Amino acid sequence: MGFGIVGHGFLEVVRRKKEMLKAMGLDINVVSVTDITGTVYDQSGIDFEKIQGARTLEGLANMEATGQAAIEEIESDLVVEVTPTNIDHGQPGLGHIEAALSQGMHVVTSNKGPLVVAYKTLKDLAKENEVQLKYEATVGGTMPLLSLVEKNLVGNKIHSIRGIFNGTCNYILTRMMEEKYPYGYALNEAQELGIAESDPTYDVDGIDTAGKVVILANSIFDMDVKYSDVDVTGITGITTEALNLSWDRGYLVKLIGDVPALTVKPMLVPRRSPLAVGGTLNAASIETDLSGTITVTGLGAGSIETASAILSDIVGIYTTARL
Ligand SMILES: NC(=O)c1ccc[n+]([C@@H]2O[C@H](COP(=O)([O-])OP(=O)(O)OC[C@H]3O[C@@H](n4cnc5c(N)ncnc54)[C@H](OP(=O)(O)O)[C@@H]3O)[C@@H](O)[C@H]2O)c1
Repeated sequence: MGFGIVGHGFLEVVRRKKEMLKAMGLDINVVSVTDITGTVYDQSGIDFEKIQGARTLEGLANMEATGQAAIEEIESDLVVEVTPTNIDHGQPGLGHIEAALSQGMHVVTSNKGPLVVAYKTLKDLAKENEVQLKYEATVGGTMPLLSLVEKNLVGNKIHSIRGIFNGTCNYILTRMMEEKYPYGYALNEAQELGIAESDPTYDVDGIDTAGKVVILANSIFDMDVKYSDVDVTGITGITTEALNLSWDRGYLVKLIGDVPALTVKPMLVPRRSPLAVGGTLNAASIETDLSGTITVTGLGAGSIETASAILSDIVGIYTTARL
């Protein structure tokens, strides 16, 4: 559901890894792809070649139904939900996920909106229907964070997770620091490179990071919080002078999301800290009782990178289902 940057990446990853997955015992058959214009459907498996080069499904769709109607009409085991994020009402993803879970289909998503708005309802719905809802890509893109905590750190008490969860902000701050660019100049550069949107509010005001804080709080810390519970400050007020002063004292300034503190704000990070990553990288430090502090870093966005996290969730679902 959704045939944009991540949707295209997902099909490409399935195409590239089909044989490897088959050898592992997982034969993925993509029976449909839907965007806002319609659905390409073939129960025996769609022909990737026919749609891969197209930006949208306009003129290619052989089924009119989109959205929930398509989910309800098509027989499948799992829905990959990769439509645009809206963290005010969660739509259209929320309706798609509810429809899929209610029909007994697993769901894997990179869309934060539905989880920020209705995490508990969706988790309960998945449980009720004995299916899984997985969302690794919503938090750190390709950076394994949820699965790391759930699988490798199982048995640990997680005291906190602090990190850089927005590559656009990290890129702007890195360029301001390294090149002494003023904020506006660094933002323009990021926009020209396609790292920042033409309307960058969602990233630079910390809204995207706050959404990720909500998902981490609800899923890892078992809290029941909403976007409005997070205290959010973005990066638009940061000056080159402040960055220079911090550097002279041995620090970088990073936009840090903190759970369970439920804050998003620019913070000083020691230059030698594992969180001192540059460019568009994301990083998260997980503080635990048994394993000490573990830090992961990786790309928070990208077509193939995000699709990799989606694939990993799918494999996770079928591995668990077989146990
Ligand atoms: N891009 C990344 O690197 C990245 C990383 C992590 C998470 N995410 C998240 O993953 C999701 C997808 O991101 P993206 O970059 O692929 O977005 P995108 O390029 O904007 O693609 C969204 C797709 O969803 C389609 N769509 C919109 N409304 C729909 C509806 N009602 N029914 C069916 N399809 C609909 C769009 O169709 P039209 O183009 O025709 O409108 C488009 O094909 C977003 O929630 C995003 O926040 C993205």
